[in-house]
Amino acid sequence: MTALTLSTSAAPGLRADAIVIGVAKGAGSPSGDLVLAPGAETVDQAYDGKLAGILETLGASGAEGEVTKLPAPAGFKAPLVLAVGLGPQPEKDASYDAEALRRAAGVAARALAGTKKAAFALPLADAADAAAVGEGALLGAYSFDTYKNNGKDAEARDAKAPLADVVLLGGNPRDKAYKAAVERATTVCEELNRARDLVNTPPNDLDPAAFAALAQEAAKEHGLKVQVLDEKALAKGGYGGILGVGSGSASAPRLVKLTYTSAKAKKHLALVGKGITYDSGGISLKPAGHNETMKCDMSGAAAVFAAVVAAARLGLEVNITGWLALAENMPSGSATRPGDVLRMFSGKTVEVLNTDAEGRLVLADALWAASQEKPDAIVDVATLTGAMVLALGSRTFGVMANDDAFRSAVSEAAGEAGEEAWPMPMPEHLRKGMDSPVADIANMGERMGGGLVAGLFLQEFVGDGITWAHLDIAGPAFNEQGPFGYTPKGGTGSAVRTLVRIAERAASGDLG
Ligand code: BES
Ligand code: MN
Ligand code: ZN
Repeated sequence: MTALTLSTSAAPGLRADAIVIGVAKGAGSPSGDLVLAPGAETVDQAYDGKLAGILETLGASGAEGEVTKLPAPAGFKAPLVLAVGLGPQPEKDASYDAEALRRAAGVAARALAGTKKAAFALPLADAADAAAVGEGALLGAYSFDTYKNNGKDAEARDAKAPLADVVLLGGNPRDKAYKAAVERATTVCEELNRARDLVNTPPNDLDPAAFAALAQEAAKEHGLKVQVLDEKALAKGGYGGILGVGSGSASAPRLVKLTYTSAKAKKHLALVGKGITYDSGGISLKPAGHNETMKCDMSGAAAVFAAVVAAARLGLEVNITGWLALAENMPSGSATRPGDVLRMFSGKTVEVLNTDAEGRLVLADALWAASQEKPDAIVDVATLTGAMVLALGSRTFGVMANDDAFRSAVSEAAGEAGEEAWPMPMPEHLRKGMDSPVADIANMGERMGGGLVAGLFLQEFVGDGITWAHLDIAGPAFNEQGPFGYTPKGGTGSAVRTLVRIAERAASGDLG
């Protein structure tokens, strides 16, 4: 992955392929004239203080997402200056918003694919800003080309290699806060990019067993405990939900438990991820047009995996158990039928009315398994419902919980991490729509409010008295449109940063 370092060097003497500066839409003037952001001073001086005017001549306005390239002034070691738009200039005395910095850095990193080393001279008011710029650059530089041109490396083909080196100017590498910020950003982004890789890997190469094997490998590397239940162990243990979903596939299901413990931990957090390595819908087969992207249906498990490894690498003072509920949802002669009744790990019975509502079935077993350890809180993450995408669009995930304070804490954590989340209700009256004439509950209810119905179903499998939140990331997990900010096309790594933030909050005893 791209390397991230700090430097106190001045822009002119720095050996790099490009210097990145920030520009904004001025707050003072009614016309919103372009202004240079702090960090661009030495570059502007080399242009005799005329840089803002030059950029305007080139058509720049400071708008978010805008990129303007120009030759570096005489005497600069770097040949190129890249001005990236930060959007509206902050009010007087305020500093640039962390998310604006993250996005601008991501845009610049994407625009610099094909070059090796770039120095980012964006406004850094403090170490948190350095973290934001670093994260944006590392996430924006991501590319997935394992399957392009017979796997030859990017330099050997026309695809542009991602930026290899990112230098943050203005942060002292000997300053503890800056150093820690860069280290945290590097760790979180490496793991987040790992989650993106998993989501992007085609389902013929990432079945439940392959995913479990990767978890075992990572556990070994990072000193985590790992336990994998295969189909035999799942049958012996009575995991009817996971087995029922996996029964139609030639690739058997798995339940992976990853355990990270810290000697200084005061809290125990359980994270549960939906890991449907491919969701065809099963016997309730999805129509063409709805299954081409369904390799993304393991994004929740990928996020949990990445967050547990990141927490371990960061040495967070909290105990975390990560549960990956892995299965492939396929139609076949051995598949679960609409009308079948499954006996779940909790002992409850579920009438399967629609085999495409499979996520809640695998999560139910994993939530009940997680509950047996009586953690202080459980957070599950899932690409659970199309209804949530209809409600919140493709960039925001929904947050449901059995505790108002915890739902607020999780939404706040998302905001701190730079992810868009929105609290959703769990209206009790929707429960009766899942009443079944033959079983304790059906896996489907009213169509209206389908995302909330799914949340109510999950709640039935959370142990009594355990604080729980559910993140439905069906919208933001997979970007089907063009790249934007630091978000690439395809797997996005949604929820990884939020989960790491929740773990950090738990480490400081704050679970809402
Ligand atoms: N994996 C899908 C949800 C999904 C939709 C994820 C779009 C990402 C993008 C889930 O398993 C599903 O099929 N849900 C059904 C539930 C319904 C049958 C009650 C849905 O939302 O249509
Ligand atoms: Mn489905
Ligand atoms: Zn699904």
